[in-house]
Amino acid sequence: MGSTEEIRGVVMIDLNSYTKGGDKDGAKTEDYQTQMEKFGWRGPHMAAEAFMKFRDTSKDIGSTYWLNAGCGDGIESAHFKPLGVKKAVGLDYTADMLDMAAKLGFYEKTIQHDLNSPLSFVADSTFDLVTCLGVLTYIKPESGVLTEFCRVTKPGGLIIMTHRIDVYDVHNWKAPIAECVTSGLVEELSGPVVVKTAPTGYLPLHPQYKDILSHFIVWRRTDKAIKTNGEVN
Ligand SMILES: C[S@@+](CC[C@H](N)C(=O)[O-])C[C@H]1O[C@@H](n2cnc3c(N)ncnc32)[C@H](O)[C@@H]1O
Repeated sequence: MGSTEEIRGVVMIDLNSYTKGGDKDGAKTEDYQTQMEKFGWRGPHMAAEAFMKFRDTSKDIGSTYWLNAGCGDGIESAHFKPLGVKKAVGLDYTADMLDMAAKLGFYEKTIQHDLNSPLSFVADSTFDLVTCLGVLTYIKPESGVLTEFCRVTKPGGLIIMTHRIDVYDVHNWKAPIAECVTSGLVEELSGPVVVKTAPTGYLPLHPQYKDILSHFIVWRRTDKAIKTNGEVN
């Protein structure tokens, strides 16, 4: 897999290496899916399973409106489309990855956006499902991204995320994640705060990252309101 970079004290895969041209180690956008499978990335499989387990079954699955935040090349659609999910927005800041997602013809929109900034172009309570898989690691906890996910998710909707444990500790994600749960914005269905779900492997077949574990977080949005400045009412 491509180059690495150090982000605030943690060595991570350099996502800027995922361009059409590839980097010095040959990491290219078109190879991304094959590499993820090869290194044992299970985020999308687990998210699809969790969606089926926890979704509101009184609603037609085809009406699910899904935001795939940090969709990369759109890899997750291969897991959600067969379940009957039809309506999705893919969002990512890497243009070449997003191009790949757009070419799948599945996402009704692909939006280039940095998740460190608010989703101000999305109305409150828009989505039934928000996924953010393999991405939080790259975002700053103080960005308010979690509150934004809560804001754009409908009451009863699901937010499904993965989070590398080493980054979770070093980059101070513990407090903002706990706060969403303890403030009552969300009910934790899987995760480290109340349910204390056992972490799973991040890239268990990767030579460098094989020992790193990841939190698998599933939240159900409650009807607790959020003020426009991000504070909980
Ligand atoms: C490891 S990939 C995960 C892609 C996909 N979700 C998956 O499950 O394979 C991380 C993705 O996060 C995106 N990303 C990283 N930082 C971001 C940011 N600040 N805003 C939006 N997307 C970001 C990268 O461009 C990349 O596509």
